[in-house]
Amino acid sequence: MRAVQFDRFGPPEVLRIVDVPTPRPGPGEVLVEVHAASVDAGETAFRAGKLRRVSRARFPRRLGGDFAGRVAAVGGGVRAWSPGDAVWGLMPHFAFGAIADFVAVPERRLARAPENLSPVEAAALPVSGTTAMTALTDKARLRPGERLLVRGATGGVGSVAVQLGKALGAHVTALAGARNLDWVARLGADEALDYRTARPGDLAEFDVIVDVVGTELGAYQARLGRGGRMVALAFDPDRVLTSMLGTGLRAAAAPRRVKMFSNNPSADRIAELARAAEEGTVRPVIDTVFPMEGIAAAHHRLEAGGVRGKHVIDMGRS
Ligand SMILES: NC(=O)c1ccc[n+]([C@@H]2O[C@H](COP(=O)([O-])OP(=O)(O)OC[C@H]3O[C@@H](n4cnc5c(N)ncnc54)[C@H](OP(=O)(O)O)[C@@H]3O)[C@@H](O)[C@H]2O)c1
Repeated sequence: MRAVQFDRFGPPEVLRIVDVPTPRPGPGEVLVEVHAASVDAGETAFRAGKLRRVSRARFPRRLGGDFAGRVAAVGGGVRAWSPGDAVWGLMPHFAFGAIADFVAVPERRLARAPENLSPVEAAALPVSGTTAMTALTDKARLRPGERLLVRGATGGVGSVAVQLGKALGAHVTALAGARNLDWVARLGADEALDYRTARPGDLAEFDVIVDVVGTELGAYQARLGRGGRMVALAFDPDRVLTSMLGTGLRAAAAPRRVKMFSNNPSADRIAELARAAEEGTVRPVIDTVFPMEGIAAAHHRLEAGGVRGKHVIDMGRS
């Protein structure tokens, strides 16, 4: 089968399509024929070598954290799935490799794919949707009527957080790039501000802040009102160690006020996201669809900024 991998850090051109053996599903695993997978922002930083001091890199390294496709085969003990089932899901925590023709994953990483979405549409959601859902529900416990600030509102996670925040009854303020302000308002934000001109000190108070940027967290934390919660999802890729340490200390010093987590959703959460997609509470937002051969171009596009939702890789099967 084909898979995207790289064997050194560097620009997007280090990414190559290689022929590798199709995995075999072990006990409790499902072999999925991947129809589409999304392009992950964290992986661009990793590929560039920005995380080399905090993450052990074993080369060659594969790409892709989520996927939509069909069950091709099941391993021993798997009862819930049969060949042909339409599924979506995530690679195991901290594992990558969904930008490939097949993946073998534990059955708990799958759910039935939303019936109203094509595989290309569905692939935009598993990682970003479960992250935004966990941030707003389990971590922030966002309540109707609360004021929510989404910082990084037009990217993968942010575009879902805006939609979900509205669906949960919050007043949503989006911080986004200038050319995406109208777009993010159409997505559901009540207010959209240009992050290059709106300084944290100019902003109102918020009950909940979801941050996917990772810089200036102290200044944003200061915008939390009484009982406010900030969910810090990202690290500054140019100062990863300092940023991780800083956010960790903030969360340790004020655990009710600052929360951080690494997305590792349960099967129930992945299924809950599928229901939200079917109900229309969360819609996939796709910027551009690339073929597998376009993976380097997709990384270039993501790194250039201005993304609206997710870039998706179509494996060319659907
Ligand atoms: N903790 C977790 O479990 C978890 C899960 C998923 C993702 N993440 C992390 O979250 C981050 C975002 O992921 P993503 O998929 O949403 O990335 P993305 O699609 O690249 O989106 C990032 C967004 O942030 C915006 N942005 C950049 N600088 C900003 C600033 N100073 N103020 C406000 N917005 C700014 C970008 O806008 P422009 O492009 O217009 O500049 C873009 O819309 C990544 O670092 C990723 O690793 C963490």
